Amino acid sequence: MAWPLFRSFVLVFSILRMVLSYDLVRDYSGLSFYDGWDFYGGYDNLTLGDVVWLNIDDALGQGLAYVNAAGNAILKVDNMHNVEFNQKRNSIRITTQAAYAVGSLWITDMVHIPYGCSVWPAFWTMGPKWPDGGEIDIVEAINLMDHNQMALHTLPGCIHSTPPNQMGLSKELDCSQPSGCVVAETAPNSFQAGFAAAGGGVFAAQFDVAGIFIWFWSRPNIPPSILHATSSSPIDISDWGPPSAGFPATTCNITQFFSPQNLVFDITLCGIWAGLPAEYLPVCGNSGPTGICYNDNVIGPGDRYNDAYFEIKYVRAYTTGGIAPTPTAAAVAIATPQTMTTVTQRPVGTALIPSPLFYPGGARGGLKHGEVMTLLCVALGTMGALLWRL
Ligand SMILES: *[C@@H]1O[C@H](CO)[C@@H](O)[C@H](O)[C@H]1NC(C)=O
Ligand SMILES: *[C@@H]1O[C@H](CO)[C@@H](O)[C@H](O)[C@H]1NC(C)=O
Repeated sequence: MAWPLFRSFVLVFSILRMVLSYDLVRDYSGLSFYDGWDFYGGYDNLTLGDVVWLNIDDALGQGLAYVNAAGNAILKVDNMHNVEFNQKRNSIRITTQAAYAVGSLWITDMVHIPYGCSVWPAFWTMGPKWPDGGEIDIVEAINLMDHNQMALHTLPGCIHSTPPNQMGLSKELDCSQPSGCVVAETAPNSFQAGFAAAGGGVFAAQFDVAGIFIWFWSRPNIPPSILHATSSSPIDISDWGPPSAGFPATTCNITQFFSPQNLVFDITLCGIWAGLPAEYLPVCGNSGPTGICYNDNVIGPGDRYNDAYFEIKYVRAYTTGGIAPTPTAAAVAIATPQTMTTVTQRPVGTALIPSPLFYPGGARGGLKHGEVMTLLCVALGTMGALLWRL
């Protein structure tokens, strides 16, 4: 009797703890921002953009990756050199050496996101094997789009069912389609000049057995939990409100479709989305004499790319269990974190309550007193049910 009772308390504690707090495992910021990232060092053979993603020596040497006077990391497209016809323009793609398992949470505070005709920036995650290991697009947009777009990419079998509290607009629902399953941000100032003019903002993604959830707050709306978080503190995420995009595990088994994820920042130009005539021509077709993305933007002096840079205050990675991130090279130790998060899986029948942060209700805002009580009741109910079964 004693052991199951203990386990019940552990379960209850896990549920409450899950809701309240995540432990920091890694802070990428300031002068040490670039520690722990690999620079790609090759041309863009993924999205077929007209860029060369520099290796670390060239990136630092050419001033396309540095830390500015404000202590923020800058990642940029070369806007200083002339590019001849048939050449590509230099840019940056960096990937974390650490891979983060299910049970992780990532937060990034940015001041500026690259934009402009031909520009295609992204902050995203992927497993070591693509697309088998899944992909989560947290920040991605092209050309003169005025909003961010979030998406998952998976093998066939993962479908986006829109949760009732999702704030963004669902588009494609099949995550195995070329576009992925897509949610458009509806809150203002999530991209382009509007994002920068508002002082930037914060994006967060929760990678959980219960689903994948993505948030965006423009600078004036950042919740107190994030404003007060430091480079070493845990974070209580109960004031986050409903997510911009919610991909519940009910129609997409997260542990099946997603291996541990590496975080990626990249900026490409043109390529298979930004340069697609159907996307490019309506908004950017007049930006040069030819109407061709490469000809009218990439070649020439580069002063078109003065806004094609990320300015990042920090990227922070958290986990539910204080588990150390797994280096890519040894992404074997993955079983442990998954076992840990499995502990927090709730009993069937509480679909809307179980995910931390998956709060029922519409308005962006804090966790209501009533919701805290509901969670408490679920926890106590679970314990009661377990005791009853003894
Ligand atoms: C892209 O190039 C890298 C290294 O040059 C290679 O490992 C990778 O398989 C290539 N990807 C594609 C899609 O061709
Ligand atoms: C989800 O996938 C994992 C790993 O493939 C599997 O162990 C688990 O049983 C699946 N869950 C459901 C509900 O199908």
